[in-house]
Amino acid sequence: MDPNNPTSAHLPEDPDKARKQRERDFHNREFASTGRKAADIAYGAAATPNRIFVETASQLARGARVLEYGCGPGTYSFQYARLAARVVGIDISDTAVDRARARAVELGATNTEFHRMDCENPDLPPASFDLICGRAILHHLDLDRSFSTIRRLLKPGGSALFLEPLGHNPAVNLFRRLTPSMRTVDEHPLLRRDLATARRYFDQVDVEPFAMLTVFAAPLLKVPGFSPVFRAIEFADRGLLRLPGVRWQGWTSIWSFK
Ligand SMILES: C[S@@+](CC[C@H](N)C(=O)[O-])C[C@H]1O[C@@H](n2cnc3c(N)ncnc32)[C@H](O)[C@@H]1O
Repeated sequence: MDPNNPTSAHLPEDPDKARKQRERDFHNREFASTGRKAADIAYGAAATPNRIFVETASQLARGARVLEYGCGPGTYSFQYARLAARVVGIDISDTAVDRARARAVELGATNTEFHRMDCENPDLPPASFDLICGRAILHHLDLDRSFSTIRRLLKPGGSALFLEPLGHNPAVNLFRRLTPSMRTVDEHPLLRRDLATARRYFDQVDVEPFAMLTVFAAPLLKVPGFSPVFRAIEFADRGLLRLPGVRWQGWTSIWSFK
């Protein structure tokens, strides 16, 4: 039995079902635990891409019907709900969905609803959303199935936006190999070739990479006086990541689809 996955002895034989059960079990454990996780510290390096992602999604959410893919405990759902007509959040983790529902009651967010559903095959009507968005979810999914589902669920003229890790930077990949307990065995940071998959389903696909150098400076963020240095590194990063040969070396990225 895999010590990182106490339920792995009871996984179904169908590889797809087994993968989803592993994802659900891993995230149920993550969302049941409290306290700061190593992943949260790493996300410090991604504060700028996170902010840009949430601001862009919030602008698109204004007056819209929004679907948050892999919503977790409603991480951003309530921010979108302040501007959107309706926000539907779906996630495979029942612990996450329970937490999102409890938070909705606490906040009186009556224009939100949360369902335990598989993002690859959700029980939702076609052409029902203006915006589909999610943070750190596509790389947990089968991309062909997910892109085809997103295409089906988007209204004509609708758009999709995701913040996702990239898988080309050797140093970041080494860090991933050294810290396996921080992630599921099935996740797959996105690759350049995934662009071609996306282009089979969408007319317009854009990828904006972030955080090549900043990711290594993140552990120093707490050091007094480091903030201006971090901003300078971030500035250099944005410039470098515009270069064609360097683009895919970012740690994280915003993907937009129309
Ligand atoms: C890294 S977490 C991100 C959660 C949230 N978006 C956030 O940023 O806090 C990945 C999420 O994907 C969900 N997930 C994984 N596979 C899924 C699937 N097939 N269908 C729906 N959700 C899934 C997990 O339960 C988890 O909540």
